[in-house]
Amino acid sequence: APAASTLEALLTRTLAAEFHDTPHPDAVLTTGGTEANQLALLLARERHGPHLTVLHGANAHHSIPRAAWLLGLPPARSLPTPTGTLTPATLAEALATSSGPVLVTATAGTTDAGLIDPLDALADLCDQHGADLHIDASYGGLLQLSPRHRPKLAGLHRARSITIDLHKLGWQPIAAGLLTVPDTTLLAPLAHQADYLNATDDTQAGLPDLLGRSLRTTRRADALKIAATLRSLGRDGLTHLIDRTCARADQLARLLEAHPAFELHAAPTISTVLFRPTHADDTALATLRRTLLQGGTAVLGRATADGRLWLKATLLNPHTTAGDLDALVNLLEGSTHR
Ligand SMILES: Cc1ncc(COP(=O)(O)O)c(C=O)c1O
Repeated sequence: APAASTLEALLTRTLAAEFHDTPHPDAVLTTGGTEANQLALLLARERHGPHLTVLHGANAHHSIPRAAWLLGLPPARSLPTPTGTLTPATLAEALATSSGPVLVTATAGTTDAGLIDPLDALADLCDQHGADLHIDASYGGLLQLSPRHRPKLAGLHRARSITIDLHKLGWQPIAAGLLTVPDTTLLAPLAHQADYLNATDDTQAGLPDLLGRSLRTTRRADALKIAATLRSLGRDGLTHLIDRTCARADQLARLLEAHPAFELHAAPTISTVLFRPTHADDTALATLRRTLLQGGTAVLGRATADGRLWLKATLLNPHTTAGDLDALVNLLEGSTHR
């Protein structure tokens, strides 16, 4: 435990510094994106009280409104995102009609399409209206390591808290979530004291005090595997995997776009490719997905966009080959014509 405690303190500070250009950034480890989003809303509630309004795009992960419910906040207000991202115009209108304290949650890497909200413009609006900004970067956050993809996250550092999920682009086994904050004092509401664990005199004598760094008490040393990855791959190694993964998604999108049997929804922003067989209706598409799943040949997701159902390939294996992509497209083509 002493070694794990020291490692966790080092790791969380190191990772937080990747996302916040501030003197004392910090982070807490969570079980994943869901718990990190819950903590973000909890910290906002502790800053602003129980009448906090949570605004989120309809593109947000379900854990955002669920956290508002769990924490006894007023029901979160969902704003329409017909184009897949939360537009500044939509947020401006919602902020103009909100009263009392507001937490805006934006998404960097939507679950359905891997899209990134216009973070800088949303942060500007939050500044103008005195609203707090939380960014759920569970999926897209690690693009921050990549010089090629980092510009897509412009504005990320302006958030009061950021959710990162290293079991997505960080290739960790669960649990590997993170909530980062620009200043360690923002985590103060989590402070808790239990004599058998962190007696004040022990803490004053320099013993680590982890109770204020999680809502859990006993927990695994999740920092260890993450630190091992960072140590063995380094920033460059991880960046290489991220760039490769995104490049493979681009490649799959191009294959599908060029293929007469398929319609591509849009070029991928991260590594999610939405597409559909050209002549299939929604029912045929849903059946096709289940057939591949039950047959054990391909596991594709599904997502609704532009009022239609799409097949979703979220590429997360950097070692996927061009041959794997060809095989997937051939399999889909064969199954579509059956
Ligand atoms: C945008 C986003 N936020 C949060 C989560 C939840 O993460 P977890 O399953 O680690 O709790 C997901 C999961 O896919 C997600 O896509």
